Amino acid sequence: MESLFKKSIFFILALSAVSCVENSKPNYQYMPNMYETVSYEPYGAYDVFVNQQEAKLPVEGTVSRGWKPYDYENSAEGYAAAKAENQNPLPYTEDNLATGKALYTIYCAVCHGDKGDGKGILVQREKILGIPSYDDAGRAITEGSVYHVQYYGLNAMGSYASQTSIEERWMITHYVMSLKDQLEGNPAREFEMENAENLMPPVNAEQPMEVKQDESEAEPIDETQE
Ligand code: HEC
Repeated sequence: MESLFKKSIFFILALSAVSCVENSKPNYQYMPNMYETVSYEPYGAYDVFVNQQEAKLPVEGTVSRGWKPYDYENSAEGYAAAKAENQNPLPYTEDNLATGKALYTIYCAVCHGDKGDGKGILVQREKILGIPSYDDAGRAITEGSVYHVQYYGLNAMGSYASQTSIEERWMITHYVMSLKDQLEGNPAREFEMENAENLMPPVNAEQPMEVKQDESEAEPIDETQE
């Protein structure tokens, strides 16, 4: 009899403990610092910072991971130089073209059309005008110019630098050039094999960035050093 009494006391205690849990609220926090961050909010305003601004610009001359400087300026000269000399570092493979096509369909086709003829859905609905066809002889687009306008945008066309990565823009470029060939009735370009030589180094790889140097200053890179 006594043990039954003890058991039921224990049962009631356990029940009352469990019934106090409120799932909609955070429970007891024994070490709140582990739940609630003590660091500053990225876009918060705090007196300890200059301008009270927590978010800082990167230190001048630094290059953040996953980003590579683009060597051409957003100017008529930069455009002309990129158009004349900048080339697609990615091999023309079936995979790269397929990914380029998928991205093109997402980002570009609304204006430029699936065929690249400048008759996208927004043009058909007269929401935007003046979209050129990729075979426009007066523009004579090149790999370098296609990449350049994606990077900076051009007049009514916005920049795609924040939506797409370097590699993605070059894949889109392959696809745009293939559309240009189709519009001009040129034979399809032959696919290349992906191999160690034409593989673009992964952006995050721990290796020295390509920096434009004078030939005279260029030093051979010592691969044995870490
Ligand atoms: C909002 C509509 C719009 C979208 C979306 C758009 N473009 Fe454009 N694009 C334009 C317009 C407008 C022009 C003509 C700009 C000018 O010459 O003033 C243009 C021009 C171009 C040109 C010719 C540039 C030259 O050198 O003359 C290329 C190449 C191009 N776009 C590629 C792309 C690619 C690639 C994408 C997707 C990443 C894209 N566009 C997305 C509106 C768009």
